[in-house]
Amino acid sequence: MTEKTYGMAKVISQEKIEQDIVSLWLETEACQRARCGQFVNLYSNQNGRLLPRPISICEIDKDVKALRLVYRIAGEGTREISKLSAGEEIKLLGPLGNGFPTEEFAKRTVLLMGGGIGIPPMLEMAKAFGEKAVAVLGYRDSHTFLLEDFQKTGCRILLSSDDGSVGVKGTVIDALKEAKATGDVIFACGPKPMLRGIKAYASDANIKCFVSMEERMACGIGACLGCVCKSTTKDPHSNVNNKRVCKDGPVFDAKEVEL
Ligand SMILES: Cc1cc2nc3c(=O)[nH]c(=O)nc-3n(C[C@H](O)[C@H](O)[C@H](O)COP(=O)(O)OP(=O)(O)OC[C@H]3O[C@@H](n4cnc5c(N)ncnc54)[C@H](O)[C@@H]3O)c2cc1C
Ligand code: FES
Repeated sequence: MTEKTYGMAKVISQEKIEQDIVSLWLETEACQRARCGQFVNLYSNQNGRLLPRPISICEIDKDVKALRLVYRIAGEGTREISKLSAGEEIKLLGPLGNGFPTEEFAKRTVLLMGGGIGIPPMLEMAKAFGEKAVAVLGYRDSHTFLLEDFQKTGCRILLSSDDGSVGVKGTVIDALKEAKATGDVIFACGPKPMLRGIKAYASDANIKCFVSMEERMACGIGACLGCVCKSTTKDPHSNVNNKRVCKDGPVFDAKEVEL
């Protein structure tokens, strides 16, 4: 089991990169053990808000002991986090979850499919695979946050948008099909309907597929069962078809989970 850091992380910088999307660099020891596809729990400094907010790791910089998180301001918890300035501190637990099985696919061509706020966790993957990666990024409109960061990784980039203002009008699957791009494995993160479509596409095309799931969470460490998703196999401990997204995931072989 990965050793976790639980303590105060210092804000290095925080900026809005789109109207409701924020990029946050935190100095934390958690970066030393972090891997692509894991997440951290951020705790509120206000006593009334007890449950942490899980946010995926977008970038890892071990040289300066830092993690980058990119998140959408969705409600009060993320709004509070967005108000932190450089030098201030926030309580963090992490790294959490399993992460993507990157070693298994080293030197293979990987398809990184990210939709909306599922795009940030794909950036560290694009850095890891570089030219061996095809990043298929699905946006709502022309607000293509993080696109320049993906361009710097050297990966091939395909775009889709809901309104057709950038790339192919439609989904990430439409963009993939139009470019006739293929790979040895798909890594995907995004809304559940997108993951469902990608799972079906991967099955038809006979491509191995891993999905990163998002469920509402409480403890984040496997204790409360607040985040279970339906699995195709039985959990050996409880003998039910459930998996805890925070502990068994958030990354699953698409064949293991019902979407
Ligand atoms: C493993 C994991 C990784 C995540 N990574 C990111 C990330 O990198 N960037 C990012 O912007 N968000 C991410 N999220 C979602 C993020 O945790 C929620 O948006 C956040 O907790 C909302 O807190 P809030 O207090 O601001 O909003 P709340 O007031 O709690 O909720 C506001 C709205 O967001 C919805 N919401 C809350 N939690 C979730 C959730 N877990 N999944 C989907 N919708 C939710 C609520 O249903 C509600 O509609 C992740 C969630 C998980 C479980
Ligand atoms: S959030 Fe408690 S078990 Fe996953």
